[in-house]
Amino acid sequence: MVNLLPNLEGRLGAAGLRWSGRLVSNLVVRAPWTWPLLRPFVDRFFSNRALAWDRITDAGSARHLAPLSAAALYVKPHPERVLDLGTGTGEGALLMAREFPAASVRGVDMSSEMIRIAARKVGLDPTGRVAFKVADASNLPYDDDSFDLVTQLNMPPFVAELARVVRPGGSVVIATTAGPRTPAYARPDTIAAAFARRGFNEVARGSAADGEFWVGRRSRR
Ligand SMILES: C[S@@+](CC[C@H](N)C(=O)[O-])C[C@H]1O[C@@H](n2cnc3c(N)ncnc32)[C@H](O)[C@@H]1O
Repeated sequence: MVNLLPNLEGRLGAAGLRWSGRLVSNLVVRAPWTWPLLRPFVDRFFSNRALAWDRITDAGSARHLAPLSAAALYVKPHPERVLDLGTGTGEGALLMAREFPAASVRGVDMSSEMIRIAARKVGLDPTGRVAFKVADASNLPYDDDSFDLVTQLNMPPFVAELARVVRPGGSVVIATTAGPRTPAYARPDTIAAAFARRGFNEVARGSAADGEFWVGRRSRR
């Protein structure tokens, strides 16, 4: 069992955590109108764990980030503007900043506790190359076509809103650290179908370490 789960399970138990995470992910993909009802519970769950997140999930480790690293190899050309959704303590966004040194990278999370920890990692960055902000992935504070690449790691996919902010020809990466054992898991076929409806083609899907990734590219208009 990868250590994303046992340390988070608390009273839910590993199976309960996986079941509820999967339920939230499937509802978000198939019935996004349910999100306002789920949001307070999801927010509280992650905000309560923000301080301990890096320790209990090893979020900055090569194993945690492996599927995102592997997916980055399929992102071509290199992006100039990257957004990491549900960034938590920011490790996915920081990885993208290392992978794409010329890109400006934004990380958003609905939990202000998570964002406080992520922002501390970049300090007062005078270049503003990497920045974090509180935002809900179901209603992003960005214009249409704002990003060349949108990534997310271990986060339910808000497909319509994600697709809106990727420019034509831009890429999307959906990754999970523990594959089907990740609470916020959606099957690759479900992801592919949801993005295909919004004009995205599958570029790659695969696995790395214990996790999985899916890469899509938005058709050029
Ligand atoms: C399982 S954690 C993953 C954090 C980080 N990506 C990682 O892998 O370490 C999921 C994160 O997504 C955030 N999240 C869940 N739903 C969200 C939404 N609709 N908008 C923004 N953030 C959300 C949670 O607050 C939490 O920080």
